[in-house]
Amino acid sequence: MGIEIAGIGSYLPERILTNADLEKIVDTNDEWITTRTGIKERRIAKDGEATSDLAIRAAERALKKAKLKTSDIDAVIVATITPDMFFPSTACFVQKGLGMNSAAVFDISAACSGFIYGLGIARDFLRCGTYKNILLIGAETLSRITDWKDRGTCVLLGDGAGAVILRNSNSDSDILSVYLGADGNSSGLLFMPGGGSRNPATAKTVEDRLHYLKMEGNKLFKVAVRAMADSALKAIDMAGISPNDVTLVIPHQANIRIVEGVAKLMNITLDRVYINIQKYGNTSAATTPIALEEAIYEGKIKKGDIAVLVAFGGGLTWGAAVIKI
Ligand code: ACO
Repeated sequence: MGIEIAGIGSYLPERILTNADLEKIVDTNDEWITTRTGIKERRIAKDGEATSDLAIRAAERALKKAKLKTSDIDAVIVATITPDMFFPSTACFVQKGLGMNSAAVFDISAACSGFIYGLGIARDFLRCGTYKNILLIGAETLSRITDWKDRGTCVLLGDGAGAVILRNSNSDSDILSVYLGADGNSSGLLFMPGGGSRNPATAKTVEDRLHYLKMEGNKLFKVAVRAMADSALKAIDMAGISPNDVTLVIPHQANIRIVEGVAKLMNITLDRVYINIQKYGNTSAATTPIALEEAIYEGKIKKGDIAVLVAFGGGLTWGAAVIKI
């Protein structure tokens, strides 16, 4: 028995922040952002809109596509680094918002790789027969932890959510492999220092701007290209296929130049790589499910095709999944 995506949906907040808008906030320009990152605009959640609100909208669309009721879902997993609160989990708020009451629900924190980690967890729950229908969501409101005075990060980030419903199936569809990795020794390259047990929130942590994402972009760039290419090739190997069998690579959308570097190392031409970074920037755990939904909607990937989802992010974490659609 394989595993199929019974339904997929995404949600992007309505508000668009363009590069021209950013030029008015920090010392940057459209030309720099476009050539260095590939990003033209990103979406920003409105005031009062939390990560679970985005996740719920994406989940509702996935449920509709799957023609399933909320009562059919027996586990909800939310991958996020921008939870509504420390606790309860964002998955609890999603459960409440969807009017569910008995499913097992929890969050996972693996930054931009969170959705890939979630695919591994969901696959094993399904294979073990623990659950029948799992709602897996990648959702972020990165705008809430963005330092709008830091031009090195604020031009990159955006808000959004993507959701899939996974279930066992007699069809050909399957999650053929999942490869996951991490290097906690490099955690200082991308992190948010304030607000946790290390630096609990005080007036001083706010004054020192510790409640914002900090990043050493240049160092990350090199690790990202290598880790994503390695992960994708390892997952392809684990699936017992070759890169030539892959219809579409759906990479984490952090920087167009990272994506180009990954494609080069994988020896895959860019027409077999899905890119939507120009529209949404980096939405962390949400980029891969949003891109997967768009690729399916646009007909770039169809039933029977093979997609490789690959990501890299804070932790550092990385991973890839080979999916037969
Ligand atoms: N506008 C104009 N100039 C800028 C901007 C900006 N927005 N940001 C930086 N610069 C300047 C720098 O100050 C520097 O100027 P200097 O040479 O006078 O010192 C120059 O541009 C080059 O800066 P670099 O940091 O070397 O630029 P780089 O080409 O590396 O691009 C970037 C920076 C886009 C951040 C890139 O390094 C990157 O994408 N890194 C990886 C990010 C990533 O993958 N993060 C992980 C996922 S994120 C997550 O998990 C939430």
